[in-house]
Amino acid sequence: MSDITRASRDEIAALQLARLQATVRRVYERVPHYRAKFDAAGVHPDDLKTLDDLAKFPFTTKEDLRQNYPYGMFAEPLENIVRLHASSGTTGKPTVVAYTQNDIDTWAGIMARSIAAAGGTKRDIIHITHGYGLFTGGLGVHYGAERLGCTVVPISGGQTERQVQLIRDFGATMIVGTPSYVLNIVDEFERQGLDPRASTLQRGIFGAEPWGEEMRRELEERLGIVAMDLYGLSELIGPGVAVECIESRDGPTIWEDHFYPEIIDPATGEVLPDGAPGELVFSSLSKEALPVVRYRTRDLTRLLPPTARSFRRIGKITGRSDDMLIIRGVNLFPSQIEELILKQAALSPHYQLVVSRQGHLDELTVRVEMKAELAGDGRLRETAANELRHRIKALIGINTKVEVMAVGDVARSEGKAKRVIDLRKS
Ligand code: DLL
Repeated sequence: MSDITRASRDEIAALQLARLQATVRRVYERVPHYRAKFDAAGVHPDDLKTLDDLAKFPFTTKEDLRQNYPYGMFAEPLENIVRLHASSGTTGKPTVVAYTQNDIDTWAGIMARSIAAAGGTKRDIIHITHGYGLFTGGLGVHYGAERLGCTVVPISGGQTERQVQLIRDFGATMIVGTPSYVLNIVDEFERQGLDPRASTLQRGIFGAEPWGEEMRRELEERLGIVAMDLYGLSELIGPGVAVECIESRDGPTIWEDHFYPEIIDPATGEVLPDGAPGELVFSSLSKEALPVVRYRTRDLTRLLPPTARSFRRIGKITGRSDDMLIIRGVNLFPSQIEELILKQAALSPHYQLVVSRQGHLDELTVRVEMKAELAGDGRLRETAANELRHRIKALIGINTKVEVMAVGDVARSEGKAKRVIDLRKS
């Protein structure tokens, strides 16, 4: 069989249209929510004659999933569902997602393809630190790694001292996790007096939270590895929607034979041309249990032309529209602060942003730690705080408070880092 990831764009478009037509018909016939929504918008599956016709169809949001909690959006009876996953649901009800046996097989296939694109082979010993359980990260990566034939270490998150020991004892060559948690493991190596660069690790696959180029450099330098970006979300399948190919490392390649991407203007919903920044929207092309049509991810990025494969890529996720802070009228994403922190040699990548309200004005406090080896130097601490404050003012345009803390004073994550504490909401 020919390799679809290297096919012509015409071949890819033909496959996408056929699969999209099947998905739209499937949800219309099987999910009352979609039928009602399509009817209200005056569209019918027969109206999807070209890929551009997709723009006529209504969006699907997290709110739609919440309102149909737990099983209302499923396109298969429960007897055909073999797995559920769920998001933690920090606000209100969790979001439940479902898989048939075919969905699990498809997922293992695209996750295996993702690990292979990131340079993995059956000779790799892969240390998976994503949480196993209702979160899609652990089990999603696990099935793909087994499918590829890797030797899998399903350690999950936590017990950081032990992570270091097992990486060394088992000779892991690849590590998978959130950038923030893997950094904790790197710190732990150093705390034990070990050089993380001397470990057997060669490659890392990082995702589940935003991370910028500065963070990539930090991980690569301190761990002596090559770092690739893995993107995904539960509503579509979990990890494995897009991954960076090791030969180009220029933004995650979207597995366009399974997920159809669009970029829209988040305010108007208008579809934007490739290259323009906006909100990423995806439609399922192969999912059986819970296909989504035009799901609004809230992730902000751009669609980029194909490079290492025939599929398009996404740029770095600059933030989620719901993570955007507005501080005295200035829009700001945590990733912008992260970039500035990582440019300062004295500061560590452990940080949190605290937003509070003083009278009518919003205040932003950046809490960040000193590098462990410099932590004793009080003068340096003050200089580092001043420098960061100046840079934020000069480059982002807001006055902030900067608190440079002692090592360990910023809360550590074992999974996705919590970057923003919004005291205005409590
Ligand atoms: O985080 C799936 C996943 C697991 C991806 C492991 C990669 C690795 P959710 O918990 O549903 O699923 O969260 C999805 O996380 O909409 C983005 O906002 C964010 N996200 C995921 N991957 C990346 C990434 C998993 N590589 C949400 N860069 C998404 C930036 C990411 N943000």
